[in-house]
Amino acid sequence: MDEPYFRPTLVSIYRRGFGHHGDLVAPGVLSLLEPVRAAGGTVLELGCGTGVLTRRLLEAGHRVIATDASPAMLAQARTELADLTDRPEQLDGPELDLRRITLPDDPLPPADAVVAVGHPLNYLPDVPAFRRALAAAAGALRPGGVLLVDVADLEWAGNAGNGPIVKVEEDWVWVNRVSAPRPDRYLREITTFVRQDDGTWLRDDERHENVLVDTALVPGWLAEVGVSARVGLSFGDEQLPAGLRAVVGHAR
Ligand SMILES: C[S@@+](CC[C@H](N)C(=O)[O-])C[C@H]1O[C@@H](n2cnc3c(N)ncnc32)[C@H](O)[C@@H]1O
Repeated sequence: MDEPYFRPTLVSIYRRGFGHHGDLVAPGVLSLLEPVRAAGGTVLELGCGTGVLTRRLLEAGHRVIATDASPAMLAQARTELADLTDRPEQLDGPELDLRRITLPDDPLPPADAVVAVGHPLNYLPDVPAFRRALAAAAGALRPGGVLLVDVADLEWAGNAGNGPIVKVEEDWVWVNRVSAPRPDRYLREITTFVRQDDGTWLRDDERHENVLVDTALVPGWLAEVGVSARVGLSFGDEQLPAGLRAVVGHAR
């Protein structure tokens, strides 16, 4: 219970219930990263979660440092990606390096691309912390490096207020109450029940607070830290959820 977000109970159902975002953005992201792959560069992924996009990056031939703040997410990613190798130590080698990094203040390794999808940067307490994470990502880029980040805009608040969202499956139940207590704040109160092998049910309650950002300001913030960026509705041909924006930048 010490971890604020994405503890084991929620993580155990995350891939089955909500793991499609990495697959949705993968074609556009891979296309934008093609020059990095061709040059044999390294991709640093922030907030990799269960490793859905990580898998797509690896299958395309990228070298990846995949990171997340949640130990449970990293453990799940390790399990999910195990079939890509016959030797577990390869999950900590030159092709894939899975490690814990917590934004915004942990040091970031240098990279030729930084990718963060599923709005991990919104999981920070306020705009100054968001900007520190953005600056850290920019600072990790080698000259000419590519920044691909999706960000929940202020418009994301429009997704609140539709009543609880409930998913009921044979062996798990997920109840999500969403609200926007302030124009720049999105709150998910998530209760999960997961059936255990002995038939009992395990419950956990998580509270996810996201800071929402006026994404029109992001290119100016990135220009201050050496990255030319544009904000769009997608990375490629995919349709992102309402209020999610794709930031595409290049380090000067
Ligand atoms: C909505 S999930 C998206 C996961 C994955 N990228 C995907 O698209 O499925 C957000 C991820 O951000 C991670 N996260 C939250 N706060 C973080 C922080 N301060 N530093 C790094 N990662 C964080 C969470 O653990 C979680 O894995």
